Amino acid sequence: MPTMIEFSNITKQFPGNKALDDVCFSVEKGEIHALLGENGAGKSTLLNIFHGIYPDYDGKILIDGKKVAFKNANDAIEFGISKVHQEVNLVTELTVGQNIALGYEPTRRGLVDYDAMYQKTDSILERLGCRFKSRDRVNALSTGEMQMILIAKALFHNAKIISFDEPTSALTDREVDRLLKMILELKAQGITILYITHRLDEVFAIADRASILRDGKFVGTLNIKETTKEELIRHMVGRDVSAYAVRNNPLCATDEVVLKVEDLCKNGVFEHISFELHRGEILSFAGLVGSKRTDVMRAVFGADPYTSGEIYIGGKKAEIKSPQDALKYSLGLIPENRKTQGFVKNFNNARNMALASLNRFSKRGFINDKKILENCMYYTREMNLHPADPEYLTESLSGGNAQKVIIAKWMTTDADIIIFDEPTKGIDVGAKAEIYRLMEELVAKGKSIIMVSSELPEVIGMSDRVVVMREGKMMGCLKREELNEEIIMKFAMGG
Ligand SMILES: Nc1ncnc2c1ncn2[C@@H]1O[C@H](COP(=O)(O)OP(=O)(O)OP(=O)(O)O)[C@@H](O)[C@H]1O
Ligand SMILES: [Mg+2]
Repeated sequence: MPTMIEFSNITKQFPGNKALDDVCFSVEKGEIHALLGENGAGKSTLLNIFHGIYPDYDGKILIDGKKVAFKNANDAIEFGISKVHQEVNLVTELTVGQNIALGYEPTRRGLVDYDAMYQKTDSILERLGCRFKSRDRVNALSTGEMQMILIAKALFHNAKIISFDEPTSALTDREVDRLLKMILELKAQGITILYITHRLDEVFAIADRASILRDGKFVGTLNIKETTKEELIRHMVGRDVSAYAVRNNPLCATDEVVLKVEDLCKNGVFEHISFELHRGEILSFAGLVGSKRTDVMRAVFGADPYTSGEIYIGGKKAEIKSPQDALKYSLGLIPENRKTQGFVKNFNNARNMALASLNRFSKRGFINDKKILENCMYYTREMNLHPADPEYLTESLSGGNAQKVIIAKWMTTDADIIIFDEPTKGIDVGAKAEIYRLMEELVAKGKSIIMVSSELPEVIGMSDRVVVMREGKMMGCLKREELNEEIIMKFAMGG
């Protein structure tokens, strides 16, 4: 196969941090090429350079043998290079077709030719097998459907190359299947695909080859048919890491009930949620995306109101009307949507990690910076934070590393009961193992954990018990010895 893209000696220096260091590799025409590496390895940076988002870098990029240097993302789009982001930024007031053609609407005698535009965009949506039409409004669509609009937009610009940066992290399982099929379809049409993910199953499902970055350096390109999960991980992490979620220590749940939720209901959202959490237990909530697990947890935590029901903590009825109340009951929640509910811009890692526990770090109104620093160093080590610098601004971290800071922030609160909502979303394999270990340490110390997770291997590997939800209802509660993927899926799908 001829070469489509050649990355040649790409180096990118951020202030105080070399994100990419002399990266060289090539991508063949019409292949699906995965880009792998730990959090902070430089994957997103490389794509941002490729798409003209960071025009300032060393080295050169050849497409079809010719040097390119895009000054901005539109330059790249016009050249036929499109990117499908993880966070879909669409103008919700506009129609689907207007979003696809935005800025490039066909005109007739100086006016936008809507008929021509909708005809063209509809034919693309048809080609993609979408159920919605160009004249539909965007705000009625699901995340997966909005992503399809971005793909349609790429095709509208006759993209030769489309790249995806962790596209599946906000999708339901069914949407993931659809997206992967769609990408194979794009490949069949001759389009070259770059694909970033932390989910190795996806790599084995669609990719032809994978290039691996470690700490900004190129490690190698592997043929997917000739490699294994373990080998990919070894290249990414540089050491052997278990790809599996397992409990290393014996289970340590006691009979003591630390949290009891009784018949919790929220009109139109969830109903009749009742469960008990024991000291030293990891209780998971499984279910499909959209089964309202997060809504239940936000209600328990006082972040959202509920209609009826009772919550008991330590045997006493608890009045939790706000997250501040929850903290008083020593209840913490690590939110799913960490980008918007996580950290303060302009704060460094040390300060962000201390944010929810300032009373622990201050005395008579004075903040003890040394303690804040020590705390940050501890989690930086435990979670393999990169760069390992407490002064680094959290907003400048890679996606996965910013998530680690937020997880550390909630672990720092030393809450007795911690709710983890999708704790390993966007987290690389190595750091996943570290987070599982930290969870085990917490329960061994007598804390209790609720984990909401859509990753079945993690649910099965880590939990003492599992509550399965479907469309706002509890479908069952399974004991550890009963757990397997089939039974969880059966409850989750209501079969
Ligand atoms: N705008 C920026 N300013 C300063 N440093 C940055 C910026 N963007 C990225 N970096 C740094 O560059 C390095 C690579 O980050 P990048 O986002 O490319 O990682 P990644 O491989 O995509 O990781 P993840 O899997 O966590 O998304 C990180 O050390 C990060 O802190
Ligand atoms: Mg990234």
